[in-house]
Amino acid sequence: TYVIAEPCVDVMDRACVEECPVDCIYEGGRALYIHPDECVDCGACEPVCPVEAIFYEDDLPEQWLPYLTDNADFFDELGSPGGAAKVGPTGYDAPLVKSLPPMAT
Ligand code: F3S
Ligand code: F3S
Repeated sequence: TYVIAEPCVDVMDRACVEECPVDCIYEGGRALYIHPDECVDCGACEPVCPVEAIFYEDDLPEQWLPYLTDNADFFDELGSPGGAAKVGPTGYDAPLVKSLPPMAT
């Protein structure tokens, strides 16, 4: 799967959402999250993020490895809806993102 890491927090550019062919990038309160089971690893989202927040799981910089788990944890309540558009912004965040102080933008 691809993973959205810390640079997205409090930025939420959303350019990635338009690129995803399977609509598996979901909106939280402070960041977006890629569904690890719905992502087909097409990679289209990665180059369009203006803050380079998106990585293939094996290419995650070490300091952002916890985001692999955090992206997955975001879906504990949602499950696998099969499309972000119908879900819309959820207003909540996964534990790690939630714990962060406000990010300067
Ligand atoms: Fe976030 Fe970048 Fe997408 S800032 S919403 S991962 S385009
Ligand atoms: Fe979508 Fe990016 Fe995965 S475009 S399919 S979330 S690699």
